[in-house]
Amino acid sequence: MPRVLTEGALRPEAPRGLEGVPVARTAVSDVHGLEGFYHYRGVDPTTFARSGTFEDAWYLLHKGELPGEADRVAFADRIRRAMHMPPVLRDALPALASLGPPGSMDVLRTAVSAAGVALGCRPWTEQDRAMTEEQMLNVAALTAVLAAALYRLARGEQRVEPSPDLGVAANYLLMINGHAPDPMRAAALDTYLVLAADHGFCNSTFAERVIVSSGADVGAALSGAVGSLSGPLHGGAIDRVPTMLEAIGDVSRVEQWLRDRLDRGERLMGFGHAVYQAPDPRTTVLRALAKEVDSERAALAEVVEKTGVRLLNERKADKHREANIELYAGMVVEYAGVPEELFGCTFAVARMAGWTANLLEQIDDNRIFRPAARYVGREPA
Ligand code: ACO
Repeated sequence: MPRVLTEGALRPEAPRGLEGVPVARTAVSDVHGLEGFYHYRGVDPTTFARSGTFEDAWYLLHKGELPGEADRVAFADRIRRAMHMPPVLRDALPALASLGPPGSMDVLRTAVSAAGVALGCRPWTEQDRAMTEEQMLNVAALTAVLAAALYRLARGEQRVEPSPDLGVAANYLLMINGHAPDPMRAAALDTYLVLAADHGFCNSTFAERVIVSSGADVGAALSGAVGSLSGPLHGGAIDRVPTMLEAIGDVSRVEQWLRDRLDRGERLMGFGHAVYQAPDPRTTVLRALAKEVDSERAALAEVVEKTGVRLLNERKADKHREANIELYAGMVVEYAGVPEELFGCTFAVARMAGWTANLLEQIDDNRIFRPAARYVGREPA
């Protein structure tokens, strides 16, 4: 029987990884790679990262402006209420925690999916937009609770309830460590959470928008986003940087250690970015903060940064490469009181703010993502 040739219907092939190809329109956030600048709805997050809270960034990403005092209080209350765990999810936590090691992003991904089911998330095409928005906010707010509870349970400790008097950052630290943090440490975590709350059309944002574009529920999309973020080339780099700094150990070993790694064809964690070719503005803020709170390791990291940037650019001159957010993030987050095993999950806690804003945008102007692939396999006989 004659076969219909579909080849002619294909558009020109996109570059690998879709680099530089706009596949959606967004008003949530944008990254200017050549200028080393990014913004949330027109506001530069580095301008309020040291003074504001994570809830400010979250509100901005959703509402389009920073909150005034009354809105700040109301939104923080809303998030705190959403941290209440459905009993069925609470009962499932010990079993979920036993699936992997403390701080596992894979376990968190599974728990976010379970949270979606427990909260009754359904295909957004079959329910009110307000209901979908409510559900995604609940899943997002629960992520900090889940990450902390799963960490403690996996270590044989009791989980700790969030406090009605604290914001997300301080509550997260309370739920991890069992005591409220001092305000300086909570503020350091807020700085990180603000800076990491969104970042253009990154891999995880694209992934969740693909998932929700089929009409799938927001629990499915957000657990998919955590899965994407867990990859070592994306958010999974954050906990590999401290290991790298520890292995290097001393400034005298930096150059040789980095050279050896590159000679083996391995990647330098905390370097390079799909979009930035100028210094990553998040790195600038976190470097300064790391120097204040962990001066010894920050000094080593600065030598690693200078040397790594030089070596990477000597070896590959096609585009300029700099350090990324991950190089100093671990130092700041650890100072705040987050154990190294939880770094990746903490990134997911932050990114929930941007992911949920992106899901709403996708839902409000949806077209199912269904690209094509050029078939290069064996043709049927
Ligand atoms: N170490 C060594 N070589 C690198 C690095 C690096 N960190 N970054 C780029 N390169 C080189 C490689 O030779 C690579 O070529 P290959 O794919 O043939 O091996 C080439 O540059 C790719 O160049 P780019 O176009 O600059 O980067 P790409 O968009 O492919 O990847 C990425 C970006 C994944 C972030 C990469 O730089 C990397 O793997 N970095 C290390 C992991 C890391 O720090 N991830 C966190 C990123 S920030 C974030 O997601 C939150």
